[in-house]
Amino acid sequence: MTQPHKKPAWGGRFSDVPSDELLAFGASLPIDRRMWRQDIAGSIAHAKMLARQGIITDHEADAIADGLRSVAADIESGNFKWALEDEDVHMAIERALTERIGTDGARLHTGRSRNDQVATDTRLYMKERTRDVGRAINALRLELIELAQQHGDVILPGYTHMQKAQPISLAHYYLAYAQMFARDFQRVIAAHKAADVSPLGSAALAGTGYPLDREYTAHRLGFSKVSINALDSVSDRDFLLDALHAATTCQIHLSRLCEEIILWTTEEFGFLKLSDRYSTGSSIMPQKKNADFAELIRGKTGRVVGDLNALLVTMKGLPLAYNKDMQEDKEPVFDAMDTVEACLRVMTGMVASLTVDEQRMRAASTQGYMAATDLADYLVEKCHLPFRQAHEIVGSIVLACERQGRSLQDLSIDELQGFFAGFGRDVEAALRIDKIVEARSTVGGTAPRAIAVQLQRTKQAYNNDEQEIALL
Ligand code: ARG
Repeated sequence: MTQPHKKPAWGGRFSDVPSDELLAFGASLPIDRRMWRQDIAGSIAHAKMLARQGIITDHEADAIADGLRSVAADIESGNFKWALEDEDVHMAIERALTERIGTDGARLHTGRSRNDQVATDTRLYMKERTRDVGRAINALRLELIELAQQHGDVILPGYTHMQKAQPISLAHYYLAYAQMFARDFQRVIAAHKAADVSPLGSAALAGTGYPLDREYTAHRLGFSKVSINALDSVSDRDFLLDALHAATTCQIHLSRLCEEIILWTTEEFGFLKLSDRYSTGSSIMPQKKNADFAELIRGKTGRVVGDLNALLVTMKGLPLAYNKDMQEDKEPVFDAMDTVEACLRVMTGMVASLTVDEQRMRAASTQGYMAATDLADYLVEKCHLPFRQAHEIVGSIVLACERQGRSLQDLSIDELQGFFAGFGRDVEAALRIDKIVEARSTVGGTAPRAIAVQLQRTKQAYNNDEQEIALL
């Protein structure tokens, strides 16, 4: 058996220890060292509290805090030697502390377990990352609002089943995504609030006999609340699932937007052009301009969905309280938060740099019988036909046009009257694409009047959310 270099911190009751290979297998250090700031902040708060409660002396607490700050300075400057045999970030820092300040350092872990320590670190980390992701979402929302303002009168086909359905304004389209990202923001903030509860002082699972002041450490670390059940506090990873779910939903919205960017920048659609900064070429086909970054965001969505799934499955069936399985939480969580933040940033720049081909969009809007609903509405309003009957008549007009390869707008009034005598000359106006868009003025509709209201509400929600995140 290969002998480890040093005895682990928990080595007291062991006469033999796992091999280097096993220790490396069990270590989370390469992943969780990322939480060193949170770990050190948590330990300083804990040490100060121990002194205030008379559990250690002020002198000891000061030595611990100073020692931890010097460890922090070394990590910050890259001079810290991380050693895999320390297993995780908690033990790496504690070991370094004790090496620096001696027995005072060994008092730090009084009334604490790695179980409440890791829960505290992860919650602090998640509070920070949800803030970062929330900010990135808002930057994209702002860009979408600006695009909606710029493209208020651009008309393009709206689709259902990927078939042309009804014409809409480009503002209506951009604002649809602005609503999705507004909800994503709220989900991320909800995940932030879920993380904002201090588990510190729960110890291993049952609390401790030391007279800890949990309110003090919570307050010092910026938590708004203290958890109320120690067994739950060390076992709970719901707050991570909340964040992963928020990240996944956001990523799915990004992916849907990417799908349209990819499609709409094809030669066949030609609605949008990607800026050269957001496209790449082919090493063999000189004509190619690929939407690689949009494809990558769409592709990374698969991974983020996997991250959520990974933690859901890891947690399923875990008995209370802490189980080592839970160490597997950090990799998917870090990955999902990093990925969604990076994708949001790329998307913000990419949509801002898109060129809109108004002519192509408008031309596509007059093909494909998108005025059919309006023609039926005309018969309902002007001729008082029941909608079902109007639908039937217009259906036969579309069929005839399709057979002759003509559009609805090509039909003369005489031809229309051949289908139904009640058509009047004003039908021509009713079929104009701008009129069709203007007609849809219900709340949430695509008409310019409705868009003005939508835009104003979207901006208001954005401003409120900006204020909310500034206070977190
Ligand atoms: N590295 C561990 C994790 O990330 C820390 C908690 C270990 N607790 C324990 N009882 N082994 O989950």
